[in-house]
Amino acid sequence: MKAIVLRRPGQVPAFSYEDLPDPQCKEGEIRILVKAAAVNRGEVQRRAGTVGGSWSPTSADPPKPAIVGWDVAGVIDRVGKNVNQNLIGQRVVALLVERGGYAEMAVVPSEFAIPIPAHMTFNEAASLPVAFLTSWYGLVRHAGLHAGEVVLIQAGTSGIGVAGIQIAKDLSAIVIATAGTDDKTEFCKKLGADYVINYTKEDFLDGVKDITNNRGVNVALDCVGGETLKNSIASLSHGGRIVTVGNVSQSHHPTIALDILFKIRPRFASESLLTEPDLPSALSNIVQLVAHGRIKAVIDKTFHLSRADEAHNYIEQRQHKGKVILTP
Ligand SMILES: NC(=O)c1ccc[n+]([C@@H]2O[C@H](COP(=O)([O-])OP(=O)(O)OC[C@H]3O[C@@H](n4cnc5c(N)ncnc54)[C@H](OP(=O)(O)O)[C@@H]3O)[C@@H](O)[C@H]2O)c1
Repeated sequence: MKAIVLRRPGQVPAFSYEDLPDPQCKEGEIRILVKAAAVNRGEVQRRAGTVGGSWSPTSADPPKPAIVGWDVAGVIDRVGKNVNQNLIGQRVVALLVERGGYAEMAVVPSEFAIPIPAHMTFNEAASLPVAFLTSWYGLVRHAGLHAGEVVLIQAGTSGIGVAGIQIAKDLSAIVIATAGTDDKTEFCKKLGADYVINYTKEDFLDGVKDITNNRGVNVALDCVGGETLKNSIASLSHGGRIVTVGNVSQSHHPTIALDILFKIRPRFASESLLTEPDLPSALSNIVQLVAHGRIKAVIDKTFHLSRADEAHNYIEQRQHKGKVILTP
């Protein structure tokens, strides 16, 4: 099969497009002929070597060649021992906990491959797992967001943000989103955000105070980190819930004054998607929400698999709104 291989982390171009042996199923696994793979910021950061332990260029361990990519959709073409043969030919989406998505084939434990309806495209399906699961666990499971509450979604056009806005609206919450350009603020409004703050023009903390009559938000979902995370906490109402899921700004963790914490008494949750329980059933739930039109996949751009470097560069330049997809 053809695959995108990362031999050493660094700036783009960092990938090579190579011929590798076809992966084989072990017991309990299925093999997917990949039709679409999504690109996530976490993969961009690992490719760059800015996060990822032994993948860091400064790590003492020599980096191991790797195929990155957590999200794929395609057709099952092989099954391992103790897996139902009737699954062959089924259209599925899968979360690859062990990575390997930037390739023509991927192998995964059978329970992580979720059937998709006939009307859902492979590109749509591949865009769902990491982004929508992260926002769903964050808002629903960790924050317990409910109807009528006000939620702040940072980076509204990010993969996490696009999912977060929609999941929050599906729960009948009131959404305040942030974005860095007017084009992106318009995009968030069309997606359903009730209020959008262009944080390059207006201090979002002031904006939140205005919108909420100084009460603050009940919940904040923050994937930006650094000073933004500090202000996400400061934007909470008394007893509000902050869910921190990422540090796209690559900032040092902020120092938060105790008087803010005593005044707000926030509840914290920090999420690491791949360690969440019940991932297959949660992904199945997301597929159903999309299938029933309650939320939708948002795809910005598609690149051929061989152009993974360009796809990563496009995301690093912050040009995307929603998901970027690779197709073999
Ligand atoms: N905890 C988990 O399990 C988990 C799961 C998924 C993702 N994540 C993390 O969540 C973060 C977001 O992922 P994603 O795939 O949704 O990101 P993404 O689609 O690449 O979007 C990131 C957006 O963040 C905004 N941003 C604000 N400050 C930024 C800065 N200093 N540098 C770059 N972008 C900045 C940009 O929008 P504007 O131009 O509007 O500012 C950018 O488009 C990443 O750190 C990722 O690793 C964590």
